[in-house]
Amino acid sequence: MQRLRAPIQQVGSTLLSRTSFPRASSRPVFLPQLAAMAAVARSARLAARLSSPLRPAARRAAPSAARQAPFSLSARHSKSSVIQGTEVPVSVYSPDAKGAASSSPDHFSIPVNPAAVPAPEASSDPEDAPITPLQDSLYHRLPRTLQKMTVHGKVIIVTGGARGLGNHMARACAEAGAKAIAIFDANQELGEAAAAELHQQTGLAVSFFRVDVRDGAAVEAAVQNVADLHGVPDVLVNSAGIADSNIPAETYDAAMFRRLVDINLTGSFLAAQAVGRALIAARRPGSIILVASMSGSVVNYPQEQSCYNASKAGVVQLGRSLAAEWAKHGIRVNCISPGYMDTALNKVPALDAQKKIWKSLTPQARLGAADELNGLCVFLASDASSFMTGSNVIIDGGYTLY
Ligand SMILES: NC(=O)c1ccc[n+]([C@@H]2O[C@H](COP(=O)([O-])OP(=O)(O)OC[C@H]3O[C@@H](n4cnc5c(N)ncnc54)[C@H](O)[C@@H]3O)[C@@H](O)[C@H]2O)c1
Repeated sequence: MQRLRAPIQQVGSTLLSRTSFPRASSRPVFLPQLAAMAAVARSARLAARLSSPLRPAARRAAPSAARQAPFSLSARHSKSSVIQGTEVPVSVYSPDAKGAASSSPDHFSIPVNPAAVPAPEASSDPEDAPITPLQDSLYHRLPRTLQKMTVHGKVIIVTGGARGLGNHMARACAEAGAKAIAIFDANQELGEAAAAELHQQTGLAVSFFRVDVRDGAAVEAAVQNVADLHGVPDVLVNSAGIADSNIPAETYDAAMFRRLVDINLTGSFLAAQAVGRALIAARRPGSIILVASMSGSVVNYPQEQSCYNASKAGVVQLGRSLAAEWAKHGIRVNCISPGYMDTALNKVPALDAQKKIWKSLTPQARLGAADELNGLCVFLASDASSFMTGSNVIIDGGYTLY
């Protein structure tokens, strides 16, 4: 009985918080009570769904009656129980404190002005930002925690690095201390230009390989050549991918379906396999980062894109599977799942109307900038994430919260 109670209490408290009942005490909740509470919760959720056919964010765009007439089941809370002030008292302990001894803090107050919280802004055009490599001298002066958050001395392959998210992640790795960067991309012209720019701005060893990620033999040969040129790759960032959207499933051409799955899913596998083989053969640890998409976890609205969504769900599960298989070799595999990002993939006039809907469904009310995966990419590539494998991290401005 004792073993049964703990999980029941847990489930019970989840139901309570979802239905805004007054919080239960720590008394155990037994099955008959739980069933009754679950029934109430279910009917409350059903009633809410029936009265509002739109998703919550869509309702936000057109305020509903419920929004205009708020109510609370916890109205018994008196205002006096909330600490509200116009100032926040602060005590600061620092070497610069005015007190003679460091144990004497500075005391002061800061004003409270809720209206002054700035709205989050997308960063200014990341294309124009200079690329500044981490100098060895600076790296050696960093505290241990910050050293671990770099990719100092690592050899990094970025597929799809000729433009877009992959290109920005390649730049970020260069800034975070990479020893060498290899760009794998099917676009010769853009790939050459991207590699040349990265080398010119940083002085790092940068190479470009024109490979199609569907071509396993070419990818394998390119990975071997990276090992010969720069050393065994420590990191793979697989960002090569394409998107089809606004194609209803009933009219989706099977050849198109196969092509997209071949690039997004089989390509992720072939790139990971080639780098995994090189790492296993060299008995070296490594980090593989697969760029999936939030579309691997949710179905986008309003565009119909069953194939893309399925391909990215496959990438997420591929990442988890490889992570489980290759942990014994010291190889970590994680996915980054972006929401809507402001890249060429989405800079299509046909998507303009839908972009307004996407923004209205995103709590941050914007698309992500092309460099907003950079921090996570460097973290996953770095030794700071050494206990992290098989994860799928969604970066979407909050889109999947609704
Ligand atoms: N932009 C978004 O909103 C968004 C959202 C979620 C996920 N993603 C994913 O992020 C990744 C990058 O997207 P992006 O917006 O930077 O796209 P992008 O089109 O700007 O860049 C993709 C790059 O991949 C290369 N590529 C395409 N097919 C290839 C192939 N078969 N072999 C080798 N290279 C190939 C292209 O030449 C290009 O340089 C993709 O996997 C995409 O599905 C993008």
